Amino acid sequence: MRDIDQFTITQAVKDTFRTEKGSRFEQLLHGLIDHLHDYTRENRLTHEEWMRVLTFLYDCGRISTPERHEFILLSDVLGFSALVDMINSRDGATEGSNLGPFYVDDAPRMPLGADLAAGRAGVCVLVRGKVSDTRHRPLAGAIVDTWQADAAGTYPIQEQGQDKMDLRGVFETDDKGEFWYTTVLPRPYTVPYDGPVGALLRAGDRHAWRPAHLHFILRAPGMSSITTEVFFENMEYLDEDAVFGVRSSLIARVRPVREGEDPGVTTRRAPEAVVEVDFVLAPAD
Ligand code: BEZ
Ligand code: FE
Repeated sequence: MRDIDQFTITQAVKDTFRTEKGSRFEQLLHGLIDHLHDYTRENRLTHEEWMRVLTFLYDCGRISTPERHEFILLSDVLGFSALVDMINSRDGATEGSNLGPFYVDDAPRMPLGADLAAGRAGVCVLVRGKVSDTRHRPLAGAIVDTWQADAAGTYPIQEQGQDKMDLRGVFETDDKGEFWYTTVLPRPYTVPYDGPVGALLRAGDRHAWRPAHLHFILRAPGMSSITTEVFFENMEYLDEDAVFGVRSSLIARVRPVREGEDPGVTTRRAPEAVVEVDFVLAPAD
């Protein structure tokens, strides 16, 4: 071990871990060491540069709280979260997209046709869709968990004094695999940029905006769950999402309701526009 040099050190470090031969843990750990060592050698990192990296990671840890997830944000703006979504999207199923930091796992169950907006200002939109399997069979009883920002681009959970359960709800599809509710059309918003990740964005002359979107988690027995987002045609930032979440297949049209049109479903509030969103789940492995 004492005769190692800048090339043999990589294998020496890997050898010190007594990992199970051929295990997933070994593969991931060795791969990480290989890539980090290669990166360090290729760029001939200086002490100052390496210390800046470590200070940056320390700052990410220091600002993190149960509500503020700076490392997830770092993963998001560097495209790692999107890459993991892409790798894990299943053929023929709806593409995955960012979970983001504003999900809560105990959102209220809502009846079909409910209004998520609870009197908030904004364009009232009917969101309606269908959940099917990859053979186009409707999935009755599928769970549609949704959350979103308001018409000013703010998540109620971010605001002091607001009900953190506003603009979120859990629906169950009917026997045709369909669901529908009304809400307000959200606006674009910025990911948090008052911390080290924001400094990184500024250093690279990048903005922090995300296009307006709705978040969804879809679940059904025997099927692979999907975490995804729905974006809106012709809205700002579709081609420059700060966290790389947009895919063409996830962009929906916002269609104004025509005068005297019967939307065909019962809602608590009369919508001004309709967004149709269909989801496809693949069987669980
Ligand atoms: C969001 O969509 O809610 C989000 C995603 C990534 C970072 C911050 C927010
Ligand atoms: Fe979001």
